[in-house]
Amino acid sequence: MSLKLLPKDIEPQCVHTIDQITFDQAELQELYERLKHLEVDYSKIRDKATAGLFGSITLDEFDEDDEPVPGKNFMLEPEIVKLVNLFNPVVAPIYTGNLAITVYQPGFQFFPHIDFSRMSVIMFPIYPAGKNHAPIDWYSLDVLGNAKDDIENKEKSVAIDKHDEEFYLGSTYYSDVHPTLANTQMVHGVRNDTDDIRIFLQVSMYDRFEDVVKGIESGTFLNV
Ligand SMILES: [Fe+2]
Repeated sequence: MSLKLLPKDIEPQCVHTIDQITFDQAELQELYERLKHLEVDYSKIRDKATAGLFGSITLDEFDEDDEPVPGKNFMLEPEIVKLVNLFNPVVAPIYTGNLAITVYQPGFQFFPHIDFSRMSVIMFPIYPAGKNHAPIDWYSLDVLGNAKDDIENKEKSVAIDKHDEEFYLGSTYYSDVHPTLANTQMVHGVRNDTDDIRIFLQVSMYDRFEDVVKGIESGTFLNV
């Protein structure tokens, strides 16, 4: 399989490393170990993923009084609260529904797509630690062909069914030290051709990538 780094001049449209913040990967590994029994097979829900190789942990249960349920709501996990409190999105606050721990098995592929609903995401790699995870692949918009017409329909993701070398721009790796903001409205995918399980904490947002980058630079987005 081909793998090349995304050219530096394109990178600022796709990813932004949040250097002002460092996170403790070991702490997130402990969180994952505590919660891993709650993983569900997500490939049934996200139809552009390889069946059986994509799991997700989402904790968004509330009791009848609308209080978060212990052990079943991310907002009661101290590691999560600490991280969420660092960010100030404008369009919608970060709450438990914005969070997921995603688990990609070796051999997993996420085909080229633009996310539905969320505009940007902050990524915290959890595993593998100390070595390269499967990177994110970026594509030019034309890879979508006729599916491009669906981009304004935010009810569904816009996707095609395979990696396409012709429109592949290159790949980026997330930092294991700093959180990384990624632009989910650029066409992207994942090919986990490594032998490692790839586990990330994802914080989804409805603010556009460009606006978040501006907020980071002007000091309004980060509570640091
Ligand atoms: Fe995506």
